[in-house]
Amino acid sequence: MSEYTITVVKNENPKPKPASDQLKFGKYFTDHMFIYDYSEAKGWHNPRIVPYQPIVLDPAAMIFHYGQTVFEGLKAYRTKEGHIQLFRPDKNMERLNLSNDRLCIPAIDEEFAINAVKHLVHVDSEWVPDAEGTSLYIRPFIIATEPYLGVNPSSMYQFIVILSPVGAYYESGINPVKIAVENEYVRAVKGGTGEAKTAGNYASSLKAQEIVSKEGYAQVLWLDGLEKKYIEEVGSMNVFFKIKGEIITPELNGSILNGVTRNSVIELLRHWDLPVTERRITMEELDEAYRNGELEEAFGSGTAAVISPIGELAWGDKKLIITEGQTGEVSKRLYDTLTGIQFGSVEDPFGWTVKVK
Ligand code: COI
Repeated sequence: MSEYTITVVKNENPKPKPASDQLKFGKYFTDHMFIYDYSEAKGWHNPRIVPYQPIVLDPAAMIFHYGQTVFEGLKAYRTKEGHIQLFRPDKNMERLNLSNDRLCIPAIDEEFAINAVKHLVHVDSEWVPDAEGTSLYIRPFIIATEPYLGVNPSSMYQFIVILSPVGAYYESGINPVKIAVENEYVRAVKGGTGEAKTAGNYASSLKAQEIVSKEGYAQVLWLDGLEKKYIEEVGSMNVFFKIKGEIITPELNGSILNGVTRNSVIELLRHWDLPVTERRITMEELDEAYRNGELEEAFGSGTAAVISPIGELAWGDKKLIITEGQTGEVSKRLYDTLTGIQFGSVEDPFGWTVKVK
């Protein structure tokens, strides 16, 4: 048996599946999961698909103490013809290894990880929902499992993949979201872990989000950690602004996540010959454009969020109501094209989709 042979233990007690049209984000989990172990002596070994179950860890496992962990998010889509496909899984696994590197976690074989995801989705293929706007969210993650309290990279890890049938990420569905610009807390600084997909970035974002959610805002828009001047990202999505026809997204600077959907949006806009620029942009510039009537659209991009139009941005006492709180033309075109490619109803000239079955 090769080190890459994935053993499968079938779940003898499959769960009832939730109705496709009732799905929210990340509440239900399928019948199986993938596990892959790492030790210094054996490297990555024993890849297996097993019934979905709790994992047993030593209370001293390093993940609990120092947060050495990384994750990814991608989706499987059911086409009208009943096929199942993934969207750019190579990009997720490439980024997983970049996050691994930042967190001192041993690299995984990207191609093997894609195969493991395909195999798992195949085993749980009946869980890929078919209602409009739904998909199977795939969450690969790696945790440090060595029982040890010294602050060092762990010598043992588990790479786990779980699956969750999902609907829209935001409660507002595909309708525009309200976002508050964060002026007090920061998410990341250059040289920190902002570019890595690691749990600590999300843990540190909760406080600000909790505060603004009381005022009806879905999430916060983070500014740079040094001057609190330059726009960075929302945390669950990258951001784009259309000002006088130019579509601007903050340039990657080491503290912004290199989103797969962000990259796909940029490629699509270039393909359509629309002006798209990756550059630094301040809140002041955005506000000035708004006051001059030049801020035409704002939207976020992410695997979970897809394309989420931003209908309102609160910045201190100011409220920027964008595209009259409605979905803008470019946001709509991007949403339709991207989801069209993902669900197989629009031709994929980029070779982004990968067939599972
Ligand atoms: C994703 O879009 O997949 C994300 O990882 C964002 C998130 C739900 C944390």
